Amino acid sequence: MRTQVLDAGSPDAVRTAAEILAQGGLVGFPTETVYGLGANALDREAVLSIFAAKGRPADNPLIVHIWNRDQLEGLCSIPEGAEKLMDAFWPGPLTLLFPRTERIPDEVTAGLPTVAVRMPSMPCTRELLKACGLPVAAPSANRSGRPSPTTAAHVLEDMDGRIPLILDGGPCQVGLESTVLDLTRGEPTVLRPGGVTPEMIEDALGRKVSLAGSILRPLQPDEKALSPGMRYRHYAPKGDVTLVEGPEDAVVRTLRERCLADRGEGRRSCVLCFTEHVRELRDCDPHDIGSRGDGAQVAHRLFDILRKLDQEGMETVYSEVLPPEGVGLAVMNRLGRAAAFRKIRV
Ligand code: TXA
Ligand code: MG
Repeated sequence: MRTQVLDAGSPDAVRTAAEILAQGGLVGFPTETVYGLGANALDREAVLSIFAAKGRPADNPLIVHIWNRDQLEGLCSIPEGAEKLMDAFWPGPLTLLFPRTERIPDEVTAGLPTVAVRMPSMPCTRELLKACGLPVAAPSANRSGRPSPTTAAHVLEDMDGRIPLILDGGPCQVGLESTVLDLTRGEPTVLRPGGVTPEMIEDALGRKVSLAGSILRPLQPDEKALSPGMRYRHYAPKGDVTLVEGPEDAVVRTLRERCLADRGEGRRSCVLCFTEHVRELRDCDPHDIGSRGDGAQVAHRLFDILRKLDQEGMETVYSEVLPPEGVGLAVMNRLGRAAAFRKIRV
């Protein structure tokens, strides 16, 4: 199959994409978070082909994308508190879990009693969802185990020859996947942190939100995953990533020592550092993750940098860390997983 890449800003391209979706095909499309790999959520065969194209385990459920709340009619019920969150954050990078009806195929939810729903904000995404008039099931458009794609080129890298069309909407604004929030059992629980932070959700709900335990550490062998996605190793470059935490000067010194020591032993090594430290680390092949005080910038750049590490054949990588607050929590969740939560405290 030849994979076409078309400009997401072109009405013709959006129409073509909508037709492919309506006929049961797959389309790679941009959202404000990461690129998605979409199919008609009500078409079992189409949904199954998503899993085949990604190499995704069948027990990891998909997010259903809508542009209008009326589309939820008949698909799910709306738990308490959800209206407030939809008012505050939709369209935007917040996915909510809702109790579902029989109309959603088991293939979408991996047989779970809930369905994950999100309303993306990017204008061309909304155009596409509107044009096809369907709820669109879409995971991130990467091959399973690779970082989520934040450009059309990333999608092409992973999906060339596997899908007919990619819409190119430029680099994704947020750069990390949506926040996933479970409102269906007791205390609202963040299963995956993202651009909508726990603090923002607490403000909108007027109540406390808890965080799934394994956001900043590995899932324990006897621990039940609240979200199937937590069971899988994600976002992992081929090389070994190690996080370095501590006072600024000591961190920079350690990044340098470790990187140069590894090189001395013949390993290909580099550092991920804040813009402010690039000069000081210039002999360590510094990859600039963004400014120290700007978590949103780090989020925006992270996945592109993780992909580059593999292209460059890096064997060891040493990285600075952000405080796990605000969007820093989402960054540290992804970076932590990329590092298999290996960390040096200095
Ligand atoms: O930003 C995003 O959310 C992107 C864009 C394309 O919308 N999508 C995305 O999808 O990241 P995916 O499939 O890569 O991640 C969905 C996550 C997985 O960790 C999955 O386990 C979890 O959401 N999930 C989906 N349905 C669920 C459910 N019913 N209960 C618990 N977790 C669920
Ligand atoms: Mg994914």
